[in-house]
Amino acid sequence: MKDYYVIIDCDPGIDDAMAIMNAVNSGNIEVKLISTVSGNLTIEETVKNALKLTELFKVDIPVAEGAKEPVKRQAIYASQAQGTKGLGGYQFRTPKTKPFVLKSPDAIHYFLCDNMAKNTTLLCMGPMTNVANLLKKYPEAKEMISRIVFMGGSKDENGSTEPYREFNVAYDPEAVDIVLKSNIPFVLVPMELGHIAYFTPEEQLKIKRANKVGKAFYKMFKKYNDFHVGKLGAAVHDSCSALYLSNPEIFTTEPAKLSVKYHKKNNQEYGYIKCDFDAKDPNALVCVDVDVEKFKKIIYGNLFNYN
Ligand code: RIB
Ligand code: CA
Repeated sequence: MKDYYVIIDCDPGIDDAMAIMNAVNSGNIEVKLISTVSGNLTIEETVKNALKLTELFKVDIPVAEGAKEPVKRQAIYASQAQGTKGLGGYQFRTPKTKPFVLKSPDAIHYFLCDNMAKNTTLLCMGPMTNVANLLKKYPEAKEMISRIVFMGGSKDENGSTEPYREFNVAYDPEAVDIVLKSNIPFVLVPMELGHIAYFTPEEQLKIKRANKVGKAFYKMFKKYNDFHVGKLGAAVHDSCSALYLSNPEIFTTEPAKLSVKYHKKNNQEYGYIKCDFDAKDPNALVCVDVDVEKFKKIIYGNLFNYN
């Protein structure tokens, strides 16, 4: 019996791929749906990538197509970081599986209703557009979601310079604002964790030597231009949120009041999450640290399932 009934919402994406591999191989998570959203790439690419990944990871989990555009803004993609097809340099074959009959947010709502008894955790590893659309179309959905774990934002204000422009929030800040205002229990897994949880080139070779799936990740990482840690390695941001679900004991969290703010730079306005750790009325938990050694050991263990 698995502990957590989970719906993943993501924009695969290389680090999404590693996170999905971890989620579907962890002992206590039952992934019932992989919902996709445009973000790293267009929705056409992210839904196709999610289908390719369920085949690579040999799991029979429905994949739903979701939002094409942010709730209000124009889409801004991140293919420069993820490679033109969004999964770096690994050549996947065209997926045979077809997307789920419903699109998100209807697909998310369907699986929420399917699990009324146990409540559901939403693991959000891309822009929050689908979740915002879900809450707008089905207000009652907020009672069916036990908590939201979101990879996004930054826990530091970067001192006096300027707020960190993290992609998942900057792509659709209005969606994050809608979700935060729903008061669904919320856990933020910010950028800073990915800045310490990364695989060095040597560790990527260890991943390559593991098995066929490891080789696939090695090729994905080869084209992963993740500027966050540069030549140090491949920052696996999304896996931090997936492992928070499967192994919360390796993370340190602090309560904070989260709110969406907007910052203008060179005539470009972007949204970010402000974390107020001194607030008397916190509305979320923020992951502020992770035991990186244990983090990597768990990922290697999940990967070795494919031996
Ligand atoms: O900023 C990192 C986040 O943006 C990750 O989820 C990555 O996949 C991109 O979506
Ligand atoms: Ca992502």
